[in-house]
Amino acid sequence: MPILSREKYWILETEHTAYAFGVNAHGLLVHAYWGARLPFAEDYPLPPESGDYASWSGPSHLVPEEYPAHAGAKFVEPCLKTTFADGVRDTVLRFGAAEVVGENELRVTLRDAHYPLTVVLCYRVHEAHDLIERWAEISNTGNTDDASITLERVWSALWHLPWGGQYRLSHLFGRWFEEWQLRRELLQPGVKVKESRRITTSHSANPWFALDRGGADETQGEVWFGVLAWSGNWKLAAEVTEYGATRLGIGVNDWDFAWRLNAGETFTTPASLAGYTAGGFGAASRTLHDYARAQLPHGKTLHPVLYNSWEAVFFDVNEASQMAVAERAAQMGVELFVMDDGWFHGRAIDNAGLGDWWPDERKFPNGLTPLIERVNALGMDFGLWIEPEMVNPDSDLYRAHPDWVIHFPTRARSEMRNQLILNLGRTDVQEYLITLLDKLLAEHNIAFIKWDMNRNVSEPGWPDAPGDARELWVRYVQGVYRVWSTLAARHPRVLWQSCSGGGGRVDYGMLRMVDQFWVSDNTEATARLGIQEGFSQLMPAITMESQVTHMGRPLLSLPFRFHVSMMGVLGISDDLLKWSEADLQTGAEQIAHYKEIRPIVQLGDQYRLLPAQGQDFTAVQYVSQDKAEGVLFAFRVHLPEPARIPPIYLRGLAADARYAIDGFDAVRSGAAWMNTGLRLELGNGESTVRRIRRVE
Ligand code: DGJ
Repeated sequence: MPILSREKYWILETEHTAYAFGVNAHGLLVHAYWGARLPFAEDYPLPPESGDYASWSGPSHLVPEEYPAHAGAKFVEPCLKTTFADGVRDTVLRFGAAEVVGENELRVTLRDAHYPLTVVLCYRVHEAHDLIERWAEISNTGNTDDASITLERVWSALWHLPWGGQYRLSHLFGRWFEEWQLRRELLQPGVKVKESRRITTSHSANPWFALDRGGADETQGEVWFGVLAWSGNWKLAAEVTEYGATRLGIGVNDWDFAWRLNAGETFTTPASLAGYTAGGFGAASRTLHDYARAQLPHGKTLHPVLYNSWEAVFFDVNEASQMAVAERAAQMGVELFVMDDGWFHGRAIDNAGLGDWWPDERKFPNGLTPLIERVNALGMDFGLWIEPEMVNPDSDLYRAHPDWVIHFPTRARSEMRNQLILNLGRTDVQEYLITLLDKLLAEHNIAFIKWDMNRNVSEPGWPDAPGDARELWVRYVQGVYRVWSTLAARHPRVLWQSCSGGGGRVDYGMLRMVDQFWVSDNTEATARLGIQEGFSQLMPAITMESQVTHMGRPLLSLPFRFHVSMMGVLGISDDLLKWSEADLQTGAEQIAHYKEIRPIVQLGDQYRLLPAQGQDFTAVQYVSQDKAEGVLFAFRVHLPEPARIPPIYLRGLAADARYAIDGFDAVRSGAAWMNTGLRLELGNGESTVRRIRRVE
């Protein structure tokens, strides 16, 4: 049983890890243990007592409260902050009840000592995936004539780290065109905050974390790691208290946030998933990858090789040109033909059309059907780009509904890329989008949608909001989820891609709808190596769309660019009408090669053998889950001569099995390839992809 419960004490066990907490003698719900699974239930520590305290703090300041509310004499980062109708801003939570639901879910109810406020702490044990999922449900249990309660902070979880030692936080930062940069920094006393205030997950940070005590690397060491499954404003606060306790709170951002919780209503937080491993950062990533793959709407169906029109012709799409390109794409072995921005009503450049999701009459006088039929006749599926959350002031939609955008009536509406954001918190906006996009999908044979989102918020007003206008941050995201998942449910065959000007909205909240992400608008192959490495910290290769383009000066060889993109879901976005016969031939060969290794890349375990960020020689390996096959990618960006190419030590092979590797005569044991390594000869700007095969 993954949940062991004794008198007000619970142990949640996954295959290799455990998490324990309970009510202490002071009546506080406190954390007791998070780490390796122990042999016996008696091995786990009991909830710590509060101990002595001075007049400078109360008992609950000194213990690792499982879900501290802002109350009493404690000054740590709380999970919950409320204001009651009478102005009281002190939330006193007491244990109420606990219930195990089914095999793997635990619900612990806390109640305020005076007000009709209930907090249910929810835990789901993902036993096989070695992850614990947490979220909270906050209810106003008053009668309908009772006053509302204002929520000002309501986090998903506080993750307590074992006491002792100085923890190091690994996190991701970046910006548009340079997302997914990895940083590791030692935590100091105080609070280290990472957040988004942009209404999306953001390019600049991601709600993913990994904590270690300084000694972990890719292959070994204790790592506590997690994510928040949320696609809007979020906050992560890693706190080291004055007594040296380390904890990490995560949830919806409380910045500019308030939620009016009326009597009878419940606020449910997004979930946070977290895990522990002694196998280093690589094992932490693979744990998340396994879980993510299991969540994908289309499961483990292999994702198709795609063509995308954006880097080829930008907005300049039309029926004749797309048909011509489709011929070439099909000849090369492309399986999915995606038409990007530029196809819809009034769209010539980026200053018009968003909101009017029907084909542009000048570019597609006969609608999209002739092109789709041609693409299908060539043996490919058809995909389309949309940006539903946006509107250009120059559009029929905006002319009809100028009040539908996020705005303050007394302020200018700042445009970015000539566009404004529709307020998806509004149900009328949601209904409009569902109706229009449902029609688009129902009337066309569309197998793939790229859902883009190309600006961040400004003037975050909602003039006629039904509740507190600051609910916008959450209601907007809930609206995005509602529109998207309604369409996904009605059109289950469609594969969805999440894009936000590249990697601006990549998170575990999106996984309920999407199968893959656009990772970055930067497709220059060497930059991409580092970007993809950062992305792989939390997401598996099957979700990572990666395209061969002509970005970068000097332009790297076509095989190098293909090899970079073959580490995820391969795509091409370049003007194939300009490709020579030799290029088309190379492309066809690379695509054929990719199709052979695709199951290993998309469904296998990933090992980051040699780091990419800041390095000029990098290698990544994928191994099928049964360890029968693998594939090694290596890239020499630029090493000055005389070059000292590092040896590559493979990983993840069965130690006693024998393996052959393309380009090497010797058949050696997995242990030998992993312990003595191999050497490759590569020149600057060269790359290689080698199959690894188990030999019976
Ligand atoms: C931003 C995306 O990241 C690009 O791939 C492309 O779809 C453009 N938007 C289209 O406007």
